[in-house]
Amino acid sequence: MKLVLIGPPGCGKGTQAELLSKKFGIPHVSSGNILRAEVAAGTAFGKKIKQYMEKGEIGPQKLITKLILSYINKNCSDGFILDGFPRTVYQAQELDKHHNIVAAIYFKLPKKEIIARITGRRTCKSCARVYHIRHAPPKKKNICDTCGGELYQRDDDKKETIVNRINVYEMETIPVIEYYKLQGILKFINAAQSPEMVFEEILHLV
Ligand code: AP5
Repeated sequence: MKLVLIGPPGCGKGTQAELLSKKFGIPHVSSGNILRAEVAAGTAFGKKIKQYMEKGEIGPQKLITKLILSYINKNCSDGFILDGFPRTVYQAQELDKHHNIVAAIYFKLPKKEIIARITGRRTCKSCARVYHIRHAPPKKKNICDTCGGELYQRDDDKKETIVNRINVYEMETIPVIEYYKLQGILKFINAAQSPEMVFEEILHLV
């Protein structure tokens, strides 16, 4: 199974990718998590992309594409669930050179809800599990239920960056949705439902 989850920032791609990964035993590949790990490790590449990520921008996309494709080739021999990649038509074309994508699932969510989800998100510093202060709080405040790690708010989840992220999404990623539509593999889901209902809808599709 080679799936792409696509949609605006904060629409629930990562949350659903985790559920699908557990259900089908296929790796969840989050380009955002891979890039954040590079930044946290202070690698030369991480230093290069940090400034772009803080602003919610795409950055050096050829280098990023190479990194994500090589991660997929090393770790995903039996398929993958992609979250955050491809984000541009260039990335979608490069992905197509190496893999046959069976479906691209487009998460539709109104702008107001995007902002509420992003500003309320908290992420574990150790295992990257995602919470929401209202919809999915941890059992103990600011502590991850899974690993006991500390929860934090991503730099790019602050209000001032969100508008830019949405603009970048509209300019760069909406054309990717059109790209998959033309290939006849685009599926729509209503992301403005509970995580359980969204999951049911995706299972029905796949
Ligand atoms: P990335 O980490 O990919 O961010 P994103 O695409 O903006 O997506 P998010 O992680 O914000 O949201 P999500 O859709 O996964 O939602 P989640 O499940 O967490 O990218 C970050 C940055 O890295 C980019 O801006 C860019 O700079 C760089 N980058 C990444 N990929 C790149 C690439 N390919 N090329 C170049 N640069 C790249 O849910 C959000 C919140 O809502 C959570 O709190 C969750 O608990 C809650 N929630 C989820 N589902 C529901 C629901 N159904 N109901 C209520 N709450 C819900």
